[in-house]
Amino acid sequence: MSRDSTRKVLTVAFLVCLVCSILVSVAAIGLKSRQEQNQEVEKRRNILQIAGLYDPAQSVDEQFKKVSSRSVDLASGQFVAASDVDSRYAIPPAEDLAGIKVRPRSMEVYLVEEDGTLQQVILPVYGKGLWSTMYGFIALAPDLTTISGFGFYQHGETPGLGGEIDNRSWLSQWRGKVVYNEQDEVKLKVLKGPVDAAHAEAQHQIDGISGATLTARGVSNLLAYWLGENGYRPFLDGLRKDGGMQP
Ligand SMILES: Cc1cc2nc3c(=O)[nH]c(=O)nc-3n(C[C@H](O)[C@H](O)[C@H](O)COP(=O)(O)O)c2cc1C
Repeated sequence: MSRDSTRKVLTVAFLVCLVCSILVSVAAIGLKSRQEQNQEVEKRRNILQIAGLYDPAQSVDEQFKKVSSRSVDLASGQFVAASDVDSRYAIPPAEDLAGIKVRPRSMEVYLVEEDGTLQQVILPVYGKGLWSTMYGFIALAPDLTTISGFGFYQHGETPGLGGEIDNRSWLSQWRGKVVYNEQDEVKLKVLKGPVDAAHAEAQHQIDGISGATLTARGVSNLLAYWLGENGYRPFLDGLRKDGGMQP
């Protein structure tokens, strides 16, 4: 067989592909656990950042010691042993304010305590924006209605438009806003345009983002879903009855 024969060229090309694919597969399998570990650290960092507890000078794991994670069955609002990730709930379209169609029956929530006293409850939330599903956390103060932090860690909205949901100064106004009104309805809403501080509902309102009205509507809707009756409301009611927390 001559050095330049078609068969020889194809054989060499095949062997190169085979060796490369084996190398890539071995690397992917070998690095999987490290990737999962990094994802977990990243999630913890996001939770700490959104709750305003993150100090870059300290290790994430060390700081996360003050946060405990618990699984909650959303329908009953009760803590359950472990998150049953396979058990999913198909959301009836009329209920589906977040536009997510299905959700787990139980969700992992995060509690920050100091000397046995609840400081913050951090809840994962997600829902459709204009182009993407937006994933974030909302942190609530011990009254379980005042926001102590909010932010997204993953979305695919347009940078400069919907992507401004990551804008620090926009996010900073969420702290201190109030989720529920006297009738315990979710009143939190991102407006189209700025909040009028003199408005009777200003404590529930967030400035709009120009050029991102549709993304902002997604943010209001996903929060209405997750903080409402079909989301964390039964859990928050249970916590409130227990005088703050009784896990
Ligand atoms: C390329 C492109 C990307 C856009 N991305 C977003 C987006 O991420 N979020 C959003 O709400 N609107 C986005 N828009 C704008 C929407 O089409 C719509 O005009 C806007 O939400 C209306 O907001 P406004 O009333 O504040 O102008 C985009 C428009 C274009 C042309």
